[in-house]
Amino acid sequence: MTCLGLFDSGVGGLSVLRHLRAQLPAADLLYLADSAHVPYGPRPLAEVRAFSEAITRFLLAQGAQAVVVACNTASAAALKHLRTAFPDVPFVGMEPAVKPAAEQTRTGVVGVLATPATFQGELFNSVVERFAQGVRVLPQVCPGLVEQIEAGELEAPRTEALLRGWVEPLLAQDIDALVLGCTHYPFVIPLLEKIAGPGVRVVDPAPAVARQAARVLNGAGGGRPGRVTYYTTGDPEAFRQAVARLGVAPAPVRAARWDAAGLQVWLAD
Ligand code: DGL
Repeated sequence: MTCLGLFDSGVGGLSVLRHLRAQLPAADLLYLADSAHVPYGPRPLAEVRAFSEAITRFLLAQGAQAVVVACNTASAAALKHLRTAFPDVPFVGMEPAVKPAAEQTRTGVVGVLATPATFQGELFNSVVERFAQGVRVLPQVCPGLVEQIEAGELEAPRTEALLRGWVEPLLAQDIDALVLGCTHYPFVIPLLEKIAGPGVRVVDPAPAVARQAARVLNGAGGGRPGRVTYYTTGDPEAFRQAVARLGVAPAPVRAARWDAAGLQVWLAD
């Protein structure tokens, strides 16, 4: 298997893509950013599920043989549905990394940063139930953070002020782990580590998800280095600039468009 599709509401899934490239250097990666609909987090789960199904169809039509749902919100809303709707396609999804945090906490308190939709999905509750018995899990939504990261404002005073407003109350409750439950958030790890200090472990699930994808794909690829292609349902130039600002490897960016009914994605260039 040599071609893997990934998607997210915007640039967040690039935090997964960079680890996938390291794990599967010979696989071709097709990455769709649904920039026309970012952010997904405040939307109803059913709407995100419909987007996810249409985007999966698009990625399969472009040649993807497996799909990484590189978005916690879309995983919470749609992963189960996608596995039923496309029974022959291997899927790898994101789930908040509560398990490693709960296993290693010494204070017995862990914070989770994620979107409202992720906390509403049954995936989050089932992860807490299965892996965090006896541990206090403190959920925290971060309205406006995805927009700051989309704009490349990784170190901006406003981004820092927002993060302090969410993280300091968690620190006051004695957390010693902060789980990143949204694929956008790893791009502000330096700022989070500065705010949280050395006593708090910031947990990014992306490396583990990339390893899981490599297992599913069975060490994909041929002899040549894999190619990356980006698709965006927004402005390709803006996406190119966002990729550069985040320090992710550049690659061709193609325009994709939703049809008027919002049911299908087409290649526009
Ligand atoms: N990066 C996404 C996630 O992992 C989506 C964030 C959003 O669009 O609100 O949840």
